[in-house]
Amino acid sequence: MSAEAELPRRVKLAPSILSCDFAHLADELQAVASADWAHVDVMDGAFVPNISFGLPILAAARRASNLLMDVHLMIERPERYLKDFAAAGADSLTVHVESTPHIHRAVQQIRELGKRAGVTLNPGTPLEALRPLLADVDLVLVMSVNPGFGGQKFIPGSLERIRTLRRWLDESGSEAELQVDGGVSSTNARAVVSAGASVLVSGSAVFGKDGAQAGLERLREALK
Ligand code: DX5
Ligand code: ZN
Repeated sequence: MSAEAELPRRVKLAPSILSCDFAHLADELQAVASADWAHVDVMDGAFVPNISFGLPILAAARRASNLLMDVHLMIERPERYLKDFAAAGADSLTVHVESTPHIHRAVQQIRELGKRAGVTLNPGTPLEALRPLLADVDLVLVMSVNPGFGGQKFIPGSLERIRTLRRWLDESGSEAELQVDGGVSSTNARAVVSAGASVLVSGSAVFGKDGAQAGLERLREALK
């Protein structure tokens, strides 16, 4: 698809605070106030080889911003903490199919808490693992890097996975968001949206050295 071709849908931008300056969390959130969602990456050092932050940072972000709090749980057995994350201010909770043997129950629990339910999977997990869940979720997240760290390179094969999921969602009449997370920047945002994404997560490309406002603007320009 050429750079000029019209994009299939209006896309939501979800800056990932993982790459922000935590000493100035409120200012950083203010700088991205014109975005759609704030993406909050929780890592436990067990499900992924990195520890990020947990409930108190989510609660602080919630106090500092009106953005929808989109929480991506990279933790083992996330069902143990769903209630706590909901209470700390999550509007949307996304869980990994690899993180619990009871993924469907975790989705049900999120819905019972009155929150948006999202599911995701690592780049090495077959997409089929999501199929049984599609009718019951508000969001499907395609990881385009191996989860655990910001600033990694977009895995090119992710585009095909996005296309497949877009087809499955459209065929089933689902209005769930199709979110893409990992290595998204102004250089590939158009291709990612053309493949079918409706929500773009971006960390290092937004909270770069020239400030989050400029980073967000670059993404928007690329999508015009
Ligand atoms: C990776 C996280 C991402 C990360 C994205 O495990 O889930 O949300 O913050 O960062 P970038 O955009 O730098 O790849
Ligand atoms: Zn994430």
